[in-house]
Amino acid sequence: KDNCLILAIETSCDETSAAVIKNGNEILSNIVSTQIDIHKRFGGVVPEVASRLHVEQITLVIEEAMSKANVEYTDLSAIAVTEGPGLVGALLIGVNAAKAIAFAHDLPLIGVHHIAGHIYANRLIQELHFPLLALVVSGGHTELVYMKEDGEFEVIGETRDDAAGEAYDKVARTLKLPYPGGPHIDRLAQEGSANIPFPRAWLEEGSYDFSFSGLKSAVINYMHNAEQRGVEISPEDVAASFQESVVEVIVTKTIQAAKEYDVKQVLLAGGVAANKGLRASLQKEMSIFSDKELVIPPLSLCTDNAAMIGAAAYVRFKQGKLSSLSLNGNPGLDL
Ligand code: KG4
Ligand code: ZN
Repeated sequence: KDNCLILAIETSCDETSAAVIKNGNEILSNIVSTQIDIHKRFGGVVPEVASRLHVEQITLVIEEAMSKANVEYTDLSAIAVTEGPGLVGALLIGVNAAKAIAFAHDLPLIGVHHIAGHIYANRLIQELHFPLLALVVSGGHTELVYMKEDGEFEVIGETRDDAAGEAYDKVARTLKLPYPGGPHIDRLAQEGSANIPFPRAWLEEGSYDFSFSGLKSAVINYMHNAEQRGVEISPEDVAASFQESVVEVIVTKTIQAAKEYDVKQVLLAGGVAANKGLRASLQKEMSIFSDKELVIPPLSLCTDNAAMIGAAAYVRFKQGKLSSLSLNGNPGLDL
């Protein structure tokens, strides 16, 4: 086949998505059906509900991705799917759909790590130059990943408790903001001033690990104290102070790692990459380097989508890292 066309599927959490990617970097279609409006009623993702909604949507989403890309199954080079990590019942819907298509059309199957997908979202907008550092900040993950070359991932730091997005969502809940809270905190933070001294978890000298549970507890305690004493709080100032604490630690560690590992690029990835405060601070701090490029995907490629899975799958396809039809959803998959 002249062109490598990959149909990719993503169902690891609360988005049902399918995409067709040409030669690893061109999006022919990227259909995302989000379940957020339904999970909102429960204040977070309900795994059993997520699985059922994926079942309802998966066939429609795949058909739409194929017709929008204007390709036939016989044109495809491979089928890719998020293998893990994620909610096991949700992962299984995508994995089984992908296996069925691979079997029916005799196509190679490629299992993809969800975080590899978030990282390779950057390849859809920019050529990658190695070595590089990827900052992955999502609802389930906060990781600094060093990549010496294509397809090689070394996690040099990760969260020891909550993920950044999880901290955002939990703090948002204490401020009575709807789920997912990240974008709401981000919006409030723009209007507030960071005048509350919330803690920063630097951890041991030289560590690239993160911790957000102490910060989350500090915010919750602050709210409880104010409530008990009948003091009015400013949600804008709480949001701005919380956001400054998160962003300062993440950006400082990222810049340190970029220097130590002497990388050519820093890639931002994951849902929290949509954060205005984080983007602005990273852009400012990265501007001191004349030899390092910062790559930030558009918002639609930061949150969960199948195009990023297709981009990551292309590298595995080229490297011959195929999966068998016994592929299973793996909620604890290692990068
Ligand atoms: O990557 P993603 O779509 O799903 C996971 O793989 O986790 O990330 C979702 C997370 C949620 O926690 C959401 O609150 C957060 O990304 N998020 C934000 C913003 N937009 C989304 N957090 C902070 N600021 C934002 N603007
Ligand atoms: Zn994600």
